[in-house]
Amino acid sequence: MSHFDQILSEAQAAFAAAADVPALEQAKARFLGKSGSLTELLKGLGKLDPDARRAAGAEINQCKSAVEAALEARREALRASQLETQLRAEALDVSLPGRGMGVGGLHPVNRTLERFETLFRSIGFEVADGPEIEGDWHNFTALNTPENHPARSMHDTFYLQDAPGVLLRTHTSPVQIRSMQAHAAKYADADVMPELRIIAPGRVYRVDSDATHSPMFHQVEGLWIGENISFAGLKGVIIDFLKRFFETDELQVRFRPSFFPFTEPSAEIDFAFMSGPNKGRWLEIAGCGMVHPNVLKNGDIDAQRYTGFAFGMGLDRLTMLRYGINDLRLFFENDLRFLTQFKD
Ligand code: DAH
Repeated sequence: MSHFDQILSEAQAAFAAAADVPALEQAKARFLGKSGSLTELLKGLGKLDPDARRAAGAEINQCKSAVEAALEARREALRASQLETQLRAEALDVSLPGRGMGVGGLHPVNRTLERFETLFRSIGFEVADGPEIEGDWHNFTALNTPENHPARSMHDTFYLQDAPGVLLRTHTSPVQIRSMQAHAAKYADADVMPELRIIAPGRVYRVDSDATHSPMFHQVEGLWIGENISFAGLKGVIIDFLKRFFETDELQVRFRPSFFPFTEPSAEIDFAFMSGPNKGRWLEIAGCGMVHPNVLKNGDIDAQRYTGFAFGMGLDRLTMLRYGINDLRLFFENDLRFLTQFKD
């Protein structure tokens, strides 16, 4: 083996033994550094005569190139294996299941509301809306509620500070007045006013708070005005609705005489399931009655010609019954353990 072949094979062995780039750079110094073996040989060229110098120079350079090539090859190999190690360390398992996004769902009260709207739309009702911040005329006076009625007291109603006569509506009934007025104005010049049939769902507010009362809760107002609208019609609509809402004919409905200033006669609606876990337990779910002539007048409706019925139903109560929920406060606490049970 020539001297050069020996240097080359030593260099190859040294480079191969270098486990990383710093070690490789140190190994390089032994051959190509300031006092490396090839550098020393090059330094010695000066002592040779010109011919010998040229021949030896060519050989040294050839060897040097071969050493440099071996060095570069090893560098490349180390870089590649370092990259490989890094990639392996940082590898992502793309086959793992993702974290995903939680699937949301409608609040149970909204589910009831949608159901309510669908059922009433199917018998020709429209959905009406009114402000939650009301004036006392719409909320009380126009609904035939006298000055001294207890519902008007600060004790029961949230009044707005510094705004006399302005309050958070205590029921959805003021929408009756707004809808009648708008309807009457729309058909002011018509010979016959078309029937007015609306439901008005929404939030209402009262100073009240326990397991079955919340200071904010939901009602749905119903109103049907026309010629020859009767209490019998009211009973039919309510009984049919309850059977469709609870998806059973196995229920009894009772119209219990009551009093509301805005209806005459008035009744409270109770119903009981005839089967199932709540069998035989009477539950109150709504107030209703024939719209008082004073209320029709305040709604700009001809009370001689038209009659109507109205009802106000508790939406939260209906939801509790439908899903078997026993504490109203669950609806407003936003606890996901509760809410995620309504996702179907
Ligand atoms: N507004 C009444 C309440 O909140 C409920 C009610 C009773 C509404 C009779 C009506 C009705 O429309 O006719 O207690």
